[in-house]
Amino acid sequence: MAHHLLEGKKGLIFGALDESSIAWKVAEAAHAEGARMVLTNAPVALRMGKIQQLGEALQAPIIPADVSNQEDIKNLWEKTLEHFGGPVDFVLHSVGMSPNVRKKRPYYDLKYDWLHKTLDISAISLHRILQEAWHMDALAEKASVVALSYIAAQRAFPSYNDMAEAKALLESIVRSFGYHYGKRKGVRINAVSQSPTPTTAGTGVPGFDTFLAYAEKNSPVGNATAEDCARFCVMLFSDYTEKLTMQTLFHDGGFSMTGISEDLMDIFSAAHDTE
Ligand code: NAI
Repeated sequence: MAHHLLEGKKGLIFGALDESSIAWKVAEAAHAEGARMVLTNAPVALRMGKIQQLGEALQAPIIPADVSNQEDIKNLWEKTLEHFGGPVDFVLHSVGMSPNVRKKRPYYDLKYDWLHKTLDISAISLHRILQEAWHMDALAEKASVVALSYIAAQRAFPSYNDMAEAKALLESIVRSFGYHYGKRKGVRINAVSQSPTPTTAGTGVPGFDTFLAYAEKNSPVGNATAEDCARFCVMLFSDYTEKLTMQTLFHDGGFSMTGISEDLMDIFSAAHDTE
């Protein structure tokens, strides 16, 4: 059910690859609430993914940009401003990639040029996007920027590997740029720390199914789905959250605040009884 929360707003959405992508669901939800959008993804994702379908459904242009390439980001902002004829009201950063995870290098045997790539694509890209926007004055007064994160920024999840470093850096950029852009234009910047979600990036993490099942059992109201995340992002893009900024918001069904649930205790005591 739509509430016209984003009527008249213009947004830029990074990271919709296919129907399972969190960014895909966010774009659909924002469209249902009345927003117009530009979609972007890496050139390779434009070839391999299904983003054209989403662009047609939402009547949104698709502008390719590799987020680790400053020229691409500059061109993306130029074309986006041209398309809308003015600055944007919201941005979703929904981008992550680790060559070390992809190529199964364990945390204690990282390749450092791959670590640099992980940090560049998954975290420093947010800084690139905001810095370019700053110079081009591409964000409207009180615009809202949301970046997707994961609780491995705070706690050890061994198979999340160097993406944990990327998320910690991403959340730090959220705070630091949140300060500067808040002072300059009332722009708010927040990280949404989302439950494990079955997407291409999510299922690429070794042991993802166990992450998902464990989080489900340890979250009093259950894991947040991609659709739940999309509704939360709509609220963050809306005028109802103008004083919320520089935060990491745990959108995880209570997982981050639960030590151990009764469900998990039952599982362990049943296993103990059969020993
Ligand atoms: P996804 O695989 O659908 O999205 C990741 C996106 O990053 C893809 O669209 C991909 O093309 C894009 N990307 C990768 N390298 C790029 C580059 N160089 N330039 C531009 N775009 C590039 O997966 P998902 O899960 O929707 O990921 C979105 C965000 O959510 C990521 O930041 C991820 O870390 C975060 N997240 C995901 C969780 C999960 O369990 N799926 C949990 C918490 C956070």
